[in-house]
Amino acid sequence: MENKPQDKEVLKALVKITRYTIFVSLLLVIGILIYTGLLFSGQSESSLPQDNISKNTTPYAAAAAPVDVTAATSSKPVPADAWKAPDSATVPAGKQGKMIRYGKDLLAHTAQYFGPKGSIAQITNGMNCQNCHLDAGTRLYGNNYASFIASYPKMSFRSGKMSPASSRIAECFERSLAGKVPDTSSREVQSILAYMKWIGKDVPKKAKLFGNATEKLAYLDMAADPEKGKIVFIQKCQSCHGASGEGLLAADKKSYQYPPLWGKHSYNDGAGMYRLGNFAGFVKNNMPYGATYQNPQLTDEEAWNVAAFVNSQPRPHRDQHMDWMNLDKKPIDFPFGPYADNFSEKQHKFGPFKPIKEAQKNQSI
Ligand code: HEC
Ligand code: HEC
Repeated sequence: MENKPQDKEVLKALVKITRYTIFVSLLLVIGILIYTGLLFSGQSESSLPQDNISKNTTPYAAAAAPVDVTAATSSKPVPADAWKAPDSATVPAGKQGKMIRYGKDLLAHTAQYFGPKGSIAQITNGMNCQNCHLDAGTRLYGNNYASFIASYPKMSFRSGKMSPASSRIAECFERSLAGKVPDTSSREVQSILAYMKWIGKDVPKKAKLFGNATEKLAYLDMAADPEKGKIVFIQKCQSCHGASGEGLLAADKKSYQYPPLWGKHSYNDGAGMYRLGNFAGFVKNNMPYGATYQNPQLTDEEAWNVAAFVNSQPRPHRDQHMDWMNLDKKPIDFPFGPYADNFSEKQHKFGPFKPIKEAQKNQSI
């Protein structure tokens, strides 16, 4: 059979197309290789587990790896002027530097010093400050200490008195760590202060910083629902924090590998985490462990609901009837009355918060 001229043309075109396809596929493969390479190097940096987490040999081990943030298709952008902790190279030398480093160590390993088996005193529930103030209070929206020092000393609306920074530190010992306060003139509290001064050294008073402390999530239209939150807990939290929210002790039995969320070793009901807004904002950007502001794993609604579930479970009680003597300044989600308005304790705990906010606005006119 004789080849027609068109056939030749077709053949030529086919060869061209094949070459072109091979070339494009090669480019694609190279692209994918570079991309996965980048992801892996990024992940090893961002999966900053505590020293002991990688040595996990517990029953939870299989399920308890930090969530894979690489599965996310896109990540939320962070503005260029977002807060960043100072570079550790700026810790001064000498005595001051030593205090700053000691302060950081106290926050990261509080239980080693002050837990039930603490080397200095046995005065806390065994949690570390860092369990809630992630990366020693330096993480974007990880309940960081960015603007803490700049805002002190200030009027404490809880106690109604002027209060120094050390008394705010004391509050977390008494409430979040459900314990007693070490002497505020001690080297320990002074070192924590020195560290916090260093963290906040570049932050002017009253600055509005992106990423400061904990994100304030938008209020839902409805009340947060503990029943729905229970489902989130079982699916996304229980593998690490335990079926009864009891957490898991680290191998040395002194501090927690996974801190408790409720029960007798958890924060008490006077703690900041007991307020739904703080809890929801914290978990939205940080939990399940490995989630970040850029790559959250929960919707706002899931965050509010799981907050409602966890904060409906039993925990140590603290008498708070002397707190917030100035009712006008009581936070909207503070779950114990009396209030300056007529909304119930239940609504102040779970919401809906929008009607309360509205009522407060009208009042202050
Ligand atoms: C159970 C979680 C938890 C633990 C553990 C915890 N904190 Fe806190 N802390 C919070 C929350 C939540 C807030 C914000 C509370 C608020 O808005 O009222 C907070 C606020 C603070 C603030 C004020 C920050 C600011 O910007 O005004 C300081 C200082 C502080 N904590 C220090 C500590 C220290 C020191 C420890 C350890 C001794 C500690 N915290 C342990 C949850 C915790
Ligand atoms: C992969 C394990 C893992 C999963 C899953 C996980 N967490 Fe955590 N969580 C941690 C670790 C580890 C810390 C302490 C972080 C630190 O010390 O740096 C923590 C700390 C916390 C804290 C502050 C400390 C405390 O105990 O009160 C809260 C609140 C919290 N997680 C809630 C949740 C919620 C809600 C979920 C589910 C949406 C969840 N976590 C899922 C590992 C996990």
